[in-house]
Amino acid sequence: MLRMYDALPAYLGGKRKLVARIFRHLPCPAEAPVFADAFLGGGSVSMYAKARGYSVRCNDIAERSVIIGKALIDNSQVTLSEHDVMRLFVPHPEAGTFARDHMAPDVVTPSHAAPLDNAMAWARATEGPKGQLYLLLCVRYLLSQRPMGNFGAKTIVHQMAEGEYDEVNPAYLKDCVQRMVLQHPLKVAKKLARKGNLGVFANGLEHETWHGDALDFCRNVRADIVFWDSPYAGTSSYEREMRPLDEMLAGHTIEPVKSRFSKADSLQFLEELFVAAEHIPVWAMSYGGPAIDAETLQQMMGKYRRDVKVEAHKYAHLAALASAESKKKNVELILIGKGQP
Ligand SMILES: C[S@@+](CC[C@H](N)C(=O)[O-])C[C@H]1O[C@@H](n2cnc3c(N)ncnc32)[C@H](O)[C@@H]1O
Repeated sequence: MLRMYDALPAYLGGKRKLVARIFRHLPCPAEAPVFADAFLGGGSVSMYAKARGYSVRCNDIAERSVIIGKALIDNSQVTLSEHDVMRLFVPHPEAGTFARDHMAPDVVTPSHAAPLDNAMAWARATEGPKGQLYLLLCVRYLLSQRPMGNFGAKTIVHQMAEGEYDEVNPAYLKDCVQRMVLQHPLKVAKKLARKGNLGVFANGLEHETWHGDALDFCRNVRADIVFWDSPYAGTSSYEREMRPLDEMLAGHTIEPVKSRFSKADSLQFLEELFVAAEHIPVWAMSYGGPAIDAETLQQMMGKYRRDVKVEAHKYAHLAALASAESKKKNVELILIGKGQP
């Protein structure tokens, strides 16, 4: 896997293992210089596009993703030094207590919640790319404290906080003790920052991160290629799965509002995306989940593009958690549409 990806958080539904297959169907930057990513997510597709030499326009409705865009796609120069990381540990006069009050001990242990509160205050007070890199560091810090990088398991964090190591599932014990108990928060942050810097690079072009609905983005962005990797119809929503992270960034509790793309009847919204992107010559889409098959999707895109190719790839989302049965069913469809009808 590419080293630049060490800078990205593990992201539900991220496409880092599929990017090379997607891009081999796309025109090169000399022919199609501007690449638009309407659902940025964990950033793996936009980062790959930047590394390939495209000028990237990326977008997401969620701040958790927009931070990635601003810190690593738009920003081509600024990195975090050791000194920058140490500053996050100097007590900030306006540090809140949200992580301590609402996230410990379900999401993080109290000894990691306190530095997160302080670092979030520094991140919010720092302007420009460095502030975005700080925010991204907080996001990755939080995820580094989660067993398997998601927000499911609470019990292990309680056990770590209480020192009940004998109760912990032996498969996770060593790793969790290492990350949640033994390592000092400053050491965790420095290591994450070093890896984060691997995602900062230039390709000589300007890039832009937008924060909003994919439909508005598609209508208004000027690009040669658009890529869609929306949430899948009828699946658990990002807003629900990522709630603790979104709450940390908001600094208050949130009642999640499910994206319409996650709803069971969301296929109509894919058509709306197609209409909104009429002016963009080349379309690429990655899609999966229980609600759709390759033929239906090809027909839908075929109404708007003359030449539509579909490839099906076996792709296990959250491979560590998926059952053998669901892994077998996990197929990701890649569609490429070219030429107006
Ligand atoms: C499957 S993920 C994208 C993964 C990404 N391609 C990657 O490789 O990491 C889908 C993303 O769509 C975003 N999203 C959901 N509804 C949206 C909307 N209406 N407009 C824009 N983004 C949306 C979610 O926040 C999530 O980050």
